[in-house]
Amino acid sequence: MPGPGSRPASEGPIPHLVLANVAKRFPQAASPAVDGVSLELARGEFFALLGPSGCGKTTLLRMLAGFEMPDAGSIRIDGQDMGAVPPYARPVNMMFQSYALFPHMSVADNVGFGLRQAKRPKDEIAARVAAMLDLVKLGALARRKPGQLSGGEKQRVALARALINEPKLLLLDEPLTALDRKLREETRFELVRIQRRVGITFLMVTHDQEEAMSMASRIAVMEKGRIAQIGAPAEVYERPANRFVAGFLGAINLFEARVVAATNDLLTLDSVEIGARLTVTHDRVLPLGTEVALALRPEKLSLARMPDSRWNNSLAGTVRGVAYRGEASDVEIELTCGKIVRATMANIGGARDTLDIGQPIFAGWSGEAGVVLEQ
Ligand SMILES: Nc1ncnc2c1ncn2[C@@H]1O[C@H](COP(=O)(O)OP(=O)(O)OP(=O)(O)O)[C@@H](O)[C@H]1O
Ligand SMILES: [Mg+2]
Repeated sequence: MPGPGSRPASEGPIPHLVLANVAKRFPQAASPAVDGVSLELARGEFFALLGPSGCGKTTLLRMLAGFEMPDAGSIRIDGQDMGAVPPYARPVNMMFQSYALFPHMSVADNVGFGLRQAKRPKDEIAARVAAMLDLVKLGALARRKPGQLSGGEKQRVALARALINEPKLLLLDEPLTALDRKLREETRFELVRIQRRVGITFLMVTHDQEEAMSMASRIAVMEKGRIAQIGAPAEVYERPANRFVAGFLGAINLFEARVVAATNDLLTLDSVEIGARLTVTHDRVLPLGTEVALALRPEKLSLARMPDSRWNNSLAGTVRGVAYRGEASDVEIELTCGKIVRATMANIGGARDTLDIGQPIFAGWSGEAGVVLEQ
């Protein structure tokens, strides 16, 4: 007899986590915090929800954990509807941004808390706590109290405490924001390593695009309670679906333009904004007159004293500023029309390539370097 939630084999395996049209509006709020989010995660995925402050990320996590009830839509984990399942009965743990460690308990007792609540035998608890502390490299600090730990160590205690119950899904709300920059970058690798080791599905929330892109195998970019785009990091970065996603995932130059000629994979754009004709490749023919924006990442722009024959497009301007960043320099160019564009140059020669403020310069790119945004 097929049980509830079973499906014909032809539909394939039951998806691990399914959110279908999940919505939530807080009382007196002018607009919904979460506005019809649908999402499917595979088991063992490291998924990131990325978006600006207030776009609904924490609210979505809290609904998954059961701390908040959706007004509409459904959440299923391994085929089971979570609608009537209270937080403590869900196969989900949440790691809070503040870590919320128990200050009076030792590191080991913090980590073992969930197992004591579950009334596991003492020696099992001791063994699993030791293994967890080993995983997060905190074995030597087992007897310390949270007040005697650095920010990075607290973060690892919180992670160990959240993983010890072996949830099917771990929710991480801005797990790295409390750490300083260098530690944050090291911890990224560490978190990914641990996630691979334990094989538990991670759903991480962040407003840091670099963090999301470097850690997650897939990203959902959120805007005002809705998902603007879902894809692999390189996909959302290289092929943003709209202006919001393009602008949120790092620096970008946008040229407002209109289609004046279109063949199979080539568009000619006329940009009144910068007074230029631009040639770009695009995977579909757009009607003449369509308003679009050409989006160009700073690293796709080349700079030279004279236009290069390999460029399909070039714009004249002057160097307005150079910010040396070590591995690369950010260059601001003021176009003849007054618009500022940004280019990134890798500092490969070792010696800093000299660009003088005010010197004339050409910025150019090939037809494939830009992305045509229709929205
Ligand atoms: N308990 C609440 N009561 C009323 N409004 C709330 C409540 N919690 C969140 N909101 C509102 O819902 C919206 C989404 O909030 P949420 O905390 O989910 O955003 P977020 O994406 O996590 O932001 P941040 O990056 O700043 O943490 C915001 O406008 C917020 O003010
Ligand atoms: Mg939040």
